[in-house]
Amino acid sequence: MPAPSVPTADAASRLAALLDAAMDAILSIDESGHIVLYNRAAEQTFGWSAGEMIGQPLERLIPDRFRGGHAGHVRKFSATGVTSRRKGGVAGAGEGVVLWGLRADGSEFPMDASISQIDTPTGKLFSVIIRDVTDRMKARQDLARFATEAAAIREQEKSRVARELHDELAQSLTALKMDAIWVRQYLASAGSASSNGPSPALAAKIEGMLALIDDSVAATRRIAADLRPLVLDDLGLVPAIEWLVQSFTQRHGVACHLDIDESLELGEPSATAVFRILQESLTNVAKHADASQVWVRVAREAGTCGAPGSGLPVDCIVLQVRDDGIGFDDGAARKPQSLGLIGLRERAQLLEGQVHIASAPGQGTRVEARLPWPLGAPAAEGGA
Ligand SMILES: Nc1ncnc2c1ncn2[C@@H]1O[C@H](COP(=O)(O)OP(=O)(O)OP(=O)(O)O)[C@@H](O)[C@H]1O
Ligand SMILES: [Mg+2]
Repeated sequence: MPAPSVPTADAASRLAALLDAAMDAILSIDESGHIVLYNRAAEQTFGWSAGEMIGQPLERLIPDRFRGGHAGHVRKFSATGVTSRRKGGVAGAGEGVVLWGLRADGSEFPMDASISQIDTPTGKLFSVIIRDVTDRMKARQDLARFATEAAAIREQEKSRVARELHDELAQSLTALKMDAIWVRQYLASAGSASSNGPSPALAAKIEGMLALIDDSVAATRRIAADLRPLVLDDLGLVPAIEWLVQSFTQRHGVACHLDIDESLELGEPSATAVFRILQESLTNVAKHADASQVWVRVAREAGTCGAPGSGLPVDCIVLQVRDDGIGFDDGAARKPQSLGLIGLRERAQLLEGQVHIASAPGQGTRVEARLPWPLGAPAAEGGA
């Protein structure tokens, strides 16, 4: 590719006017990482004037903690010979990590940046186009907060209905059963007094009623527990997971090995998210896997997640569900009616976590969810 011609004074001033009219911050750096071009939008974005920035190292526009990493990125990019690359994006948008810029007043902002390189007679020139995405990030965070609150309200509602089913309906059915037993005994004693005994049809009817009441109590308890296990609210995540795993094995006859740190105490909304992700994963094993064994691991890992908003390292709550079943093609298109796995990912994304699903026909399935440990909670021993 021929080297670009040196612009005439007229062309240079037209280029400068064009760059100054751009809405995005545009700056160029030479091979040594010093700024050689800095447009008006860059002045507004970073709060430094062009006069202050021309000749300065690019590092001055990057928060301290990212400086080393940034130099490495540019070096790698330079080595690829690629002419243009988009970097950054907003967390939760599935576009990778957030990049951060540093303003003259010391404040930081999230940004989108694309970088391109050209060879000039005096060496490589890197041009960076930067957009402040604070508003977009805030809108996403507002949306995520709204979705989290809506999910919490749904859970509260389920919890209320579950409690009423359990406390009201199941109790009334139990009282009804007591009454039916009383009638059975009464008829038996009245019958023996009159020596005829109760009519066989009546006795059979009462036995049928008792069986029906038993089934109704069991169904009410099961529906209540499926809606939301009260143990999750009353005793916390660990007993709720133990209950879920036990009832999974009882219902489906599939052995489930649970590896969980008994001392784990996780607050809301993370606890519900972990519980629901496990619930859907086990339901999938029961529905699709034809597995004989399932392994569930729940643990806290020190410093392996990114904190919501800043991306700084925090502890992770990790949930792994692995089965030895038939597996499936995890690259195949989603069936339109299948919502479970999408729901898992959405739940994790709302909390700025991730779900990774690995499966192949004949090789079983592995679901791994990683959620940042809620901020404000004490750090794990030896953790960040
Ligand atoms: N553990 C598993 N073993 C085998 N196949 C699985 C497993 N988990 C998921 N699948 C496959 O992935 C598909 C998508 O799962 P997903 O949970 O999204 O939907 P679904 O279970 O079919 O429906 P629902 O919306 O009720 O969850 C399933 O239909 C099944 O083919
Ligand atoms: Mg499913």
